[in-house]
Amino acid sequence: MKAKISVIGSGNVGATLAQRIAERELGDVVLLDIIDGIPQGKGLDMYEASTLEGFCGMVSGTSSYDDVAGSDIVVITAGLARKPGMTREDLLMKNAEIIRGICRNVANVAPDSIVITVTNPLDIMTQLAIESLGFEPHRVIGMAGILDSARMCAFIAMELDVAPPDINAMVLGGHGDSMVPLPRYTTVSGIPITELLPTEKIEEINERTRMGGAEIVKLLKTGSAYYAPSSGAAEMVEAIVKDQKRIIPCSVLLSGQYGLNDVCIGVPVKLGSAGVLDIIELNLSKEEKQALHASAKIVKENVDLLKQA
Ligand code: NAI
Ligand code: 2OP
Repeated sequence: MKAKISVIGSGNVGATLAQRIAERELGDVVLLDIIDGIPQGKGLDMYEASTLEGFCGMVSGTSSYDDVAGSDIVVITAGLARKPGMTREDLLMKNAEIIRGICRNVANVAPDSIVITVTNPLDIMTQLAIESLGFEPHRVIGMAGILDSARMCAFIAMELDVAPPDINAMVLGGHGDSMVPLPRYTTVSGIPITELLPTEKIEEINERTRMGGAEIVKLLKTGSAYYAPSSGAAEMVEAIVKDQKRIIPCSVLLSGQYGLNDVCIGVPVKLGSAGVLDIIELNLSKEEKQALHASAKIVKENVDLLKQA
């Protein structure tokens, strides 16, 4: 049976994601936004393209949660995007309000769904979503590590003049400046990049990866990235719909793994039809573990800030 996939927020990330899901034929797509007319118009436009693009599946837009009812997967992309000079944390309070409202509705109409969060600040919003939805943590998954890793792959591909799909990168930690790129776990067709690039170049790539989101914001001036982010979310949707059991870095609630408790942070997980099937614990060096803990501390501080507000 076809999956029903709802995308909340039909802005840049949401609409591009809906298009990617439809074109990959992962299921029927419902696009929802608070601005009446936008999701309906974009949904109809995408459905009209199906004849020309040759995909089968419904794409529709709505402003009512009645149409989200019974969704198998809900992806939350609604919220404010980062503007130049704005940190992801600046978005905290406003987007928290939006996430709480959306989660209340999703819990009502799609209580058995798997929820993927995209809204920033990602790790904090994912933790808030788990709490607001009241779902088991393995059904609420934040999208960021797959994007940050894809960016790292792109920068390595440019440096080595090789095909990006041959590169496998691993970026852990929070989706912010404190993220933790792991060159030791990054390879080109199985060859560790530590054998292909000098340490200084790898450090430059790590830094560009950490600032990857800001680099696009600076260029676009009026919004943030959406092509690669929507690809990241589409990969996660596909892994769940097809029960692929792919290992993807995602933001999930930890309960003791990596020595961390009660915090959402990016780590490699196995994704399948039930959501997070397993959390993979890498054998981190002392420095890598310290960096992951420092990143988790920032997430925890912001979660506490939200609790106090
Ligand atoms: P956008 O501004 O293009 O779209 C956001 C949409 O959300 C708008 O259409 C708006 O009307 C809608 N919206 C606002 N409140 C809503 C509500 N209560 N219910 C339903 N819809 C609502 O922004 P864009 O570029 O699509 O980014 C969306 C979010 O994703 C931002 O928070 C951004 O920072 C985040 N993001 C996260 C990434 C990640 O790696 N986790 C990557 C890229 C973006
Ligand atoms: C990004 O990394 C803004 O979080 C968003 O592009």
